[in-house]
Amino acid sequence: MTRPAVLIARRIFPAVAERLAAHFDVETNDADTLWSREELIQRLQGKQGVFVTTGEPIDATLIAACPDLKAVCSMAVGYNNIDVTACRARGIAVTNAPDVLTETTADFGFALMMAAARRITESEHFLRRGAWTKWAPDFFVGADIHGTTLGILGMGRIGQAIARRGALGFSMNVLYHNRSRLAPASEAPIGARWVDKATLLAESDHLVIVVPYGPASHHLIAAADLALMKPTATLTNIARGGVVDDAALAMALRSGRLGAAALDVFEGEPAVHPALLDVPNVVLTPHIASASLPTRLAMAHLAADNLIALLTGGTPRTPPLEPTTC
Ligand code: GLV
Repeated sequence: MTRPAVLIARRIFPAVAERLAAHFDVETNDADTLWSREELIQRLQGKQGVFVTTGEPIDATLIAACPDLKAVCSMAVGYNNIDVTACRARGIAVTNAPDVLTETTADFGFALMMAAARRITESEHFLRRGAWTKWAPDFFVGADIHGTTLGILGMGRIGQAIARRGALGFSMNVLYHNRSRLAPASEAPIGARWVDKATLLAESDHLVIVVPYGPASHHLIAAADLALMKPTATLTNIARGGVVDDAALAMALRSGRLGAAALDVFEGEPAVHPALLDVPNVVLTPHIASASLPTRLAMAHLAADNLIALLTGGTPRTPPLEPTTC
């Protein structure tokens, strides 16, 4: 019996690639080239499955040009790079990698928020360039975290994990805005209170953004939204580039309209808006919120398990995505 053929679109952990090779005829990307849509289409001819990450464009054009494809399995939780509607219309199953990265990503979001509030990278750069000559009472004074108001925009699994850290570890007052309210039983242990977006922006000392990206969340935080925030507030984006208008953010930071920011994701990444690079009060990291080794391994194994199940008649560990869940 011929084995299904799959493409692993990026270089992944050898142990995961080996597991896939035990089940499938596998084409790998050992050079870790960022293949264009056209290159992906060419490599997907005759392939039944594809293992993808955050950025490969699995769009309607690609789907129409890859008639053998049956399963698209991503090791990322966000899937704005995949047209789930087009896949489902062609009977292609799509899975992402939820849950396994929740706590690690929440740790990182919290760390970024603290780094922005307490000016950690800004003061480190100062030290490294040899500018430190004396201690002073007002030296790199920042904002407190404990006892302040944490605002979460997007209260899914990761948002709730950040809220738990704030409420239970740092005595923070938790506000959130989300399309749907949490059940009272989920709000109560962390004292979380649903508010409208304008109230969230106006009352948060530290805003953390964790919404999925799509047309409805493009520039969800733009200049007019930043204008509602406290001038001492911090903003942390670990969601997706494009949710925040990076140019407007850079301007707000530079003008003192906003206290500080921390960004792990950027519109058009890996390019970073040049205005951000010149602003001292922003912490910038290269999309690594889920990047602990155990978590990245767990994400990759989950995607591999799903691909194996979907192409061998098994049940995937996480249910295939529906267009309505986009
Ligand atoms: C990373 O950004 C992910 O969506 O898993």
